[in-house]
Amino acid sequence: MKFLVTGGAGFIGGNFIHYMVENYPKDQFVNLDLLTYAGNLETIQSLEEKKNYRFVRGDIADRQFIMNLFEEEQFDVVVNFAAESHVDRSVIDPSIFIKTNVLGTQVLLDAAKQYQVKRYHQVSTDEVYGDLPLDRTDLFFTEETPIHTSSPYSASKAGADLLVLSYYRTFQLPVTISRCSNNYGPYQFPEKLIPLMMIRALSDEKLPVYGNGLNVRDWLYVMDHCKAIDLILRKGRVGEIYNIGGHNERTNLEVVKTILKTLEKPESLIQYVTDRPGHDLRYAIDPKKIERELDWKPEVSFETGIQQTIQWYLSHRSWWEHIISGEYQTYVKQMYKERLS
Ligand code: NAD
Ligand code: TYD
Repeated sequence: MKFLVTGGAGFIGGNFIHYMVENYPKDQFVNLDLLTYAGNLETIQSLEEKKNYRFVRGDIADRQFIMNLFEEEQFDVVVNFAAESHVDRSVIDPSIFIKTNVLGTQVLLDAAKQYQVKRYHQVSTDEVYGDLPLDRTDLFFTEETPIHTSSPYSASKAGADLLVLSYYRTFQLPVTISRCSNNYGPYQFPEKLIPLMMIRALSDEKLPVYGNGLNVRDWLYVMDHCKAIDLILRKGRVGEIYNIGGHNERTNLEVVKTILKTLEKPESLIQYVTDRPGHDLRYAIDPKKIERELDWKPEVSFETGIQQTIQWYLSHRSWWEHIISGEYQTYVKQMYKERLS
């Protein structure tokens, strides 16, 4: 089987492609990534010597380039991770989110249809369901929960999901969609909560907690997400959506305090700052469908996973020090300067 994995120089795609190349030596993997600010060749450097792996730089929204690649490679399976993925950036400038997440998905779907791939898998997010009230801990997102988006990011991901489902219904393209909760683990870009707080705490910088810090996210260790996608590719039913999550709900404040405690840093580093506009209150996945149909279960608890992640960032300083020495500083100034002053 020949796989196209898009966005494999990013956080989840990078972990996924490491896992797949190692575990399926008889399959071939092409990693297509534009190397935006979030893409990092250092994440996938060790794969370069593998015989069943090739990296290609390119844009999923570039129709001619994508059609040429499909003509050349004749893929069996497409797994689309490539996306603009950060909610705060989508608040500053939504347009690139529409281009990559919606139009890029449409280009990939057209290519998958024209070249008759056996499976097109769309990596989506629980954020397409909007949010749940904080005081209704009995409520969870199921695959039947209506789409109800809050940010330009989640709206662009929902638009992509609807396109994917339309290609199934109208053209019988064999698609699957996964909607996962918040991931954490190695190689996550330090704009997202956990690596951002860790890296700032290490240099005794203030930790900007939005609002009152009581918003809830449902955390999943990245490798549990990768294994779930692998299962969906092999055993999932086409035309179906699978929610992925492991019942690891934590308030942002709990997460930040866990990081501080592990790093032996004082809680006085926490600074409550102006809230994110449209900030979703609570995400919580009901994973019964994937547990029942595909026998998937998360293997890593939050307590273990967060410690492993902190240890990974401590022992891979050069990976993130290269990132924060570049244009990242401009982003941090734009996002946090007024909030923290
Ligand atoms: P990321 O931002 O770390 O990585 C995205 C990757 O896509 C980068 O390598 C980037 O260079 C690449 N990319 C961006 N635009 C591209 C384009 N036009 N053409 C080709 N490549 C392009 O994101 P992530 O956190 O790894 O998320 C991966 C996917 O998983 C996304 O689709 C995201 O919506 C989804 N997801 C993320 C989470 C999470 O917690 N991070 C949770 C659920 C779902
Ligand atoms: P994030 O990692 O951006 O993921 P998402 O918005 O997709 O859930 O944020 C996780 C939570 O942490 C979210 O409730 C916003 C909050 N947050 C902060 O309080 N401060 C920050 O600097 C960041 C980046 C996020």
